[in-house]
Amino acid sequence: MNSFPNVRLRRLRQNEKIRGLIRETHLRVDQLIYPLFVAEGLSEPHEIVSMPGIMQWPLDQIGAEVQRVAQLGIPAVLLFGIPNQKDEVGSQAYAEHGVIQEAIRRIKQASPETLIVTDVCLCEYTSHGHCGVIHNGTVQNDESLQLLAQMALSHVQAGADIVAPSDMMDGRVGALRRVLDEHGFNQTPIMAYSIKYASGFYGPFRDAAGSTPQFGDRRAYQMDPANVREALRELEQDILEGADMVMVKPALSYLDVIRQVRDHCDLPLVAYNVSGEYSMVKAAAQQGWIDEQRVVLEILTGIRRAGADMIITYFAPDVARWLQS
Ligand code: PBG
Repeated sequence: MNSFPNVRLRRLRQNEKIRGLIRETHLRVDQLIYPLFVAEGLSEPHEIVSMPGIMQWPLDQIGAEVQRVAQLGIPAVLLFGIPNQKDEVGSQAYAEHGVIQEAIRRIKQASPETLIVTDVCLCEYTSHGHCGVIHNGTVQNDESLQLLAQMALSHVQAGADIVAPSDMMDGRVGALRRVLDEHGFNQTPIMAYSIKYASGFYGPFRDAAGSTPQFGDRRAYQMDPANVREALRELEQDILEGADMVMVKPALSYLDVIRQVRDHCDLPLVAYNVSGEYSMVKAAAQQGWIDEQRVVLEILTGIRRAGADMIITYFAPDVARWLQS
């Protein structure tokens, strides 16, 4: 006798033990990277209004903060600097005693085992807020490459473990690789922001980092949200230039891009769950409209299911605590 229905998918959903056995995607704290903002000339941590729970940290407290992060089992931090002084060519970005270079030294002392990833981009350091040098109203590609390479080198000389170029100039991965190798750092990996879209979801970050462009926008160097074939070209280029890991950013509106990159190459893949994605969840949770923990775990699991290995997320400490309990 045939019973109907003969396939009963609910058999494997009966209890948490069975669900655990057949679970396909796992979220683990050892694949999370936590972004941190370090500001020069600050005496107390300063909360970013549009990113509840996220601070700009003074240099003399960044070591202790990274110790707290490390105690939660989070293996890596991604550093952004807010300098006291900005100029046309972002010179504080590659100054020996710039804010990030100093932060790296303090973190290495306080928490030597934490991996330090640094964001390599000029926008926080230029007076005009663009990601490269400007002449005649446009960002100059090749001239900017030299400064970006200098910036990456100064981070590594200060002790950074991984550099992450986010500027979207053509040829930056190759330029960084060459300069690092010439100075004896051929073991330092490059995590390339390979596929970075010109996104409205970076809004809160620009409050946090003070990096809003003073004129125009970033569409002449960051990618058009409508394109995915172009994303694969960016990917191929960065692989050819020697990227060790590649990134898709933002994550949530680009889960299909994450999946295509995953199917297209074998490099470790990072997804950046960006500031606007964080702030939307925070705002709705504060209103009591969504269950924050449930929604965050669902979002991050979705990003992993789409194909990301690692996730950069402002939720990392919360997730670490939730996964422990
Ligand atoms: C620097 C940079 C940005 C972000 C990471 N690196 C801002 C931008 O490109 O405007 C955004 C991160 C976030 O929104 O969380 N170029």
